[in-house]
Amino acid sequence: MARINDNYLKLKAGYLFPEIGRRVREFSAANPQAKVIRLGIGDVTRPLAPAVIEAFHKAVDDLATTQNFAGYGPEQGYDWLIDAIIEKSYKPLGVSLKTEEMFISDGSKCDCANILDIFALDNVVAIGDPVYPVYNDTNVMIGRTGEADEKGYYKNIVYMPCNEANGFIPELPKQKVDIIYLCFPNNPTGTVASKAELKKWVDYANANDAVIFFDAAYEAFITNPEIPHSIYEIEGAKKCAIELHRRALRPGGRAGRGHGNDRDGREVLLQQALAAPHHHQVQRRLLPGAARRGRRVQR
Ligand SMILES: Cc1ncc(COP(=O)(O)O)c(C=O)c1O
Repeated sequence: MARINDNYLKLKAGYLFPEIGRRVREFSAANPQAKVIRLGIGDVTRPLAPAVIEAFHKAVDDLATTQNFAGYGPEQGYDWLIDAIIEKSYKPLGVSLKTEEMFISDGSKCDCANILDIFALDNVVAIGDPVYPVYNDTNVMIGRTGEADEKGYYKNIVYMPCNEANGFIPELPKQKVDIIYLCFPNNPTGTVASKAELKKWVDYANANDAVIFFDAAYEAFITNPEIPHSIYEIEGAKKCAIELHRRALRPGGRAGRGHGNDRDGREVLLQQALAAPHHHQVQRRLLPGAARRGRRVQR
């Protein structure tokens, strides 16, 4: 008999955002006059930039010619895109990456889940609270946790409170953990981390042989020149951190990128776990977004 993965039954209310959507729909149906301020999943409201539209169109036209046609691309993404990102997005930060250290994938949300396949279930995972719920739920789904308590906290996950008292920055866990999720600028608090703050985490990870998943989804919003955009700006981070990005990316044509490190053959494993890039036309449209530009928000 085919059985489902029972771990999914542990999920409290499904994925948080569909649950918010369901409640908003119910409330709106019962209160049609009410104006609802939606704090659930966001969506984009502005059209794509002309440079991106142009790159998209050009890439689709490429598919109509024998000379420029492209089918399945390389599993890790096209070198021309990876190299442009390294050159235009990382070099200005003083970060040097090799082509084979970066992957173009189909989104950082998918990467958050896919990457768990290559880590043993008995790794102890530490997650900020509150934080992007995907980190928590994907660990539940893969079977790393026990049941949730009445507040929705799962057994076997180390939650790191982020509150007014600690400036919404998690403190180093008291117990030894193996995998640490960090997200700066943070969803949902918007908090950013200074270089000194990130150095604490990098030192902890290297001292404890832990891995940091650094989600830099919102780094393009950083405007303060003192605030790092990438964890690789911190000495020692390349040994312990895997960074996920969605810079210049938009829902509807999503792609992500991940950066791994060289240690212990981990790079090879990462390629297997993360490499699911989009087709030529989507990767083409990322090119105009590779360069660093203006920033909008700071802490
Ligand atoms: C912190 C964070 N990381 C990752 C994602 C997902 O990014 P992507 O669209 O690349 O899957 C989101 C989306 O809301 C997010 O808030």
